[in-house]
Amino acid sequence: MRSTIGRSSGWTALLFLLGALAVLLQPAAAVKENDFKKCHQSGFCKRNRAYADNAASQGSNWNSPYTVIPETTSLNAGQIQATIIKTINEKGETVRLPLTISFLQSGTARVTVDEEKRQKKEIVLRDNSAARKERYNEVEDWVIVGGLELDHTAKISFQDKTQVNVQYGPESKYEAVIKFSPFEIDFKRDGASHVKFNDRGLLNVEHWRPKIENKEGEEASDDESTWWDETFGGNTDSKPRGPESLALDITFPGYEHVFGIPEHTGPLSLKQTRGGEGNYEEPYRMYNSDVFEYILDSPMTLYGSIPFMQAHRKDSSVGVFWLNVAETWVDITKGKDNVNPLSLGLKSKTSTHTHWISEAGLLDVFVFMGPTPADLTKAYGELTGFTAMPQEFALGYHQCRWNYISDDDVKDVDRKMDKSKIPYDVIWLDIEYTDGKKYFTWDPHSFQDPVSMGEQLDAHGRKLVVIIDPHIKNEDGYKIVSEMTSKDLAVHNKEDKLYEGWCWPGSSHWVDCFNPKAIEWWKTLFKYDYFKGTLENTFIWNDMNEPSVFNGPETTMPKDNLHFGNWEHRDIHNLNGLTFHNATFEALLSRKKGELRRPFVLTRSFYAGSQRLGAMWTGDNQAEWSHLEASIPMILNQGLAGFPFAGADVGGFFGNPEKDLIARWYQAGAFYPFFRGHAHIDARRREPYLLGEPYTQIVTAALRLRYSLLPAWYTAFYQANRDGSPILRPMFWTHPSEEAGFAIEDQAFVGSTGLLVKPVVQKDKESVEIWIPDDEVYYDYFTYQVQKTHKGKHLTVAAPLDRIPLLMRGGHMIPRRDIPRRSSAMMRFDDYTLVVAVSKTGTAEGELYVDDGDSFDHEQGQYIHRKFSLSDNTLTSVDAEGRDTNAIKAGEWLKNMGEVRVDKIVIVGASSAWNQKEVQVESDGETWTAKVHYTAAKGGRAAFATMGRVGAKIGADWSVKLA
Ligand SMILES: *[C@@H]1O[C@H](CO)[C@@H](O)[C@H](O)[C@H]1NC(C)=O
Repeated sequence: MRSTIGRSSGWTALLFLLGALAVLLQPAAAVKENDFKKCHQSGFCKRNRAYADNAASQGSNWNSPYTVIPETTSLNAGQIQATIIKTINEKGETVRLPLTISFLQSGTARVTVDEEKRQKKEIVLRDNSAARKERYNEVEDWVIVGGLELDHTAKISFQDKTQVNVQYGPESKYEAVIKFSPFEIDFKRDGASHVKFNDRGLLNVEHWRPKIENKEGEEASDDESTWWDETFGGNTDSKPRGPESLALDITFPGYEHVFGIPEHTGPLSLKQTRGGEGNYEEPYRMYNSDVFEYILDSPMTLYGSIPFMQAHRKDSSVGVFWLNVAETWVDITKGKDNVNPLSLGLKSKTSTHTHWISEAGLLDVFVFMGPTPADLTKAYGELTGFTAMPQEFALGYHQCRWNYISDDDVKDVDRKMDKSKIPYDVIWLDIEYTDGKKYFTWDPHSFQDPVSMGEQLDAHGRKLVVIIDPHIKNEDGYKIVSEMTSKDLAVHNKEDKLYEGWCWPGSSHWVDCFNPKAIEWWKTLFKYDYFKGTLENTFIWNDMNEPSVFNGPETTMPKDNLHFGNWEHRDIHNLNGLTFHNATFEALLSRKKGELRRPFVLTRSFYAGSQRLGAMWTGDNQAEWSHLEASIPMILNQGLAGFPFAGADVGGFFGNPEKDLIARWYQAGAFYPFFRGHAHIDARRREPYLLGEPYTQIVTAALRLRYSLLPAWYTAFYQANRDGSPILRPMFWTHPSEEAGFAIEDQAFVGSTGLLVKPVVQKDKESVEIWIPDDEVYYDYFTYQVQKTHKGKHLTVAAPLDRIPLLMRGGHMIPRRDIPRRSSAMMRFDDYTLVVAVSKTGTAEGELYVDDGDSFDHEQGQYIHRKFSLSDNTLTSVDAEGRDTNAIKAGEWLKNMGEVRVDKIVIVGASSAWNQKEVQVESDGETWTAKVHYTAAKGGRAAFATMGRVGAKIGADWSVKLA
């Protein structure tokens, strides 16, 4: 979190902040946009936009100066190697750029362009810089975890002096047409173009060049003015390697919608960025930053970035992943395709044109050919990893504020939640728990007894999360800082000396988690016997890891700082948050010898791959209705970009929400994958029990709903873990043929449960319009009312303040646990309820995945994974993976689950043929009867049948004959 002024203990820190942060002190309704660069204030962005404008103004006269030498081109074991020649002046001088195109077994293609001179280190750095000469080439080590096997069956299908065509992918369905002069690639599927590189000729690799001093009195041209150094907001970035940006245009022909490239506050379907009505003027920016009081509907950068973009049109999704961790901007424009005179009269299609611009590093792009949204998320996940199976408690409710001021305060909140019968799993401590912002310490006055605090929480299965940030206080006698600096594990400045900057503690140094030794050291700090006061129910929150530096350029580190391996901060900036998150994750794995438990680490800053490490939240939002509304597309977009464990601060961080807003926010938050209430230090207390009626009841009901659906949420996480499916699924993802749903961003399905939710996000709104994607039957979740739906039309659903608009799509089964408890841990061995929403044709399917929610035993088969179905008047449960469950040697958890049963089944939309007093249940060769209560349809409410005491073991095969 951030504040306008540091609530630092001690006057020195406060006085410092008053000075250094004067710019932040003005009462701010919104971000100081001027604190962050616009494209024209970022030299390389401005140059590349100008390059695009120049190319566009020349039309067909524009010649991209990049050509492939045909003779250098060869295909070997699934990989093309070639050299691109860039002509740099009229004299015909050239620069050599090695090109690799890899065809992967998954059907993904990867295009990498490097710079030969820099590969060979044949360049000279200015200012005696110790920085590396190569273009940054280690991002793959951090981000890519698999899927790189080459497709040896890729073959050249055509070749002449002007181009080479390669067939690749499953059944050779894909073709890459590589044109030599100018260099272009057209990626085709079944003969049609889907993704085009350099189609508009905007490929631009700023090659290394020596600095030639201007003659006396001669001004640098506007273009060159930021080649060698660049000043913004009083900070000057020395550029020891001069200009080195790279850019490429990527066109999606016939695709009107593009999604992804979080984190931004705008709509799910990304906007155009080069002006015009309703469009942005600025490109989407990715430069992880601590953006104070961020504004909505903006392409400004935020705390994290994932440069993965999906393009979607009816029945087809394709995508690209721009693997670059330097500052990046993306321009998006859309336009009608050039109409072929012969096809006059035919409807021309809109295409999306994108222009990717990065400051440094390699040009390294993955191309995904779909054709479904699910194919894309899966292929992307194979490369960058899937969402880690979470700690089960992490799906419960998290109670946070800046700050619970003492251990007694924590205990008091814990007791009051219990007294009001409000379930929660985790209470959080922000920076004030430390002794003077020194991490791994406790404030000696207010947190005298963290152990008894942790033990009280543990009594009801609850957890504590404490914040640990990457800035380490520069103070004599603080063991951590002296260890870190004496071992040389912190980030260096451009002179290659210890870097010092300001953050919460005042003067600080930053641990450099690019350094493997720093990770090893970081691990030692979390051991229970080192970080005294932490217990097995303590977990971690990583904040400020962009990194946030209060007195740095754009509130972060200078780009010419040096990290491990002498990479400039410029080269690795967007990866910084991930490396810190990774180190903390690794540290939690090694807190105690022999302890093997899943870590839980929340991060604010992230990159592609962070999904393997924990959850994220959308940072410092505001207690405004508009921020509640904006949270839904932001979280949906996280899911599309492979990082679905996402949430926004419930209630809003800054400000004091009115009670209606709090109620609505909890109702929405109950459908965030990560569900945490949080508040700024200046905000009034707003724990749910303080709200008063009817609000406390409304919030409690939302929390109970979340807790009863935890089995469904956990199953959705499991699916994300297996194949990258988003946990909250937007309409285009579940219904890729329904064009009217492509841009819908305010409603979602929860996993594969068929639960369709549309939270109320506007003041005084008492109904919502839910867009219905298909012809299936929909029931109200709470009343079983059959909805009068029409495919492609909106349905009005009443939503008074105490009601969440939530529908059940026919054809699904939802696993629940209905006994209200204090925490998820207390529900571990509770029986299940199955809710069956019968489809129009009398069928339904459902899934349940459950494991111990804590260890890695599930990787050894210690889990239950059921597939439920209803057809031919019979309900059945079988192992979803066809395993012989009797053959699995049960560990302790699985043994205990042996006594856990399906207690209740509710069949909504029950056929009148099922109107009987009892049914036969069959399992493991035994049969018995269960009582049925059948309620006939009435006044629009569906008929439903309730079976009690079903008694079928959750882990066993069973069937129920309904008629
Ligand atoms: C964290 O980083 C280290 C070093 O790159 C790597 O070995 C490890 O696998 C990473 N951990 C995760 C969970 O990605």
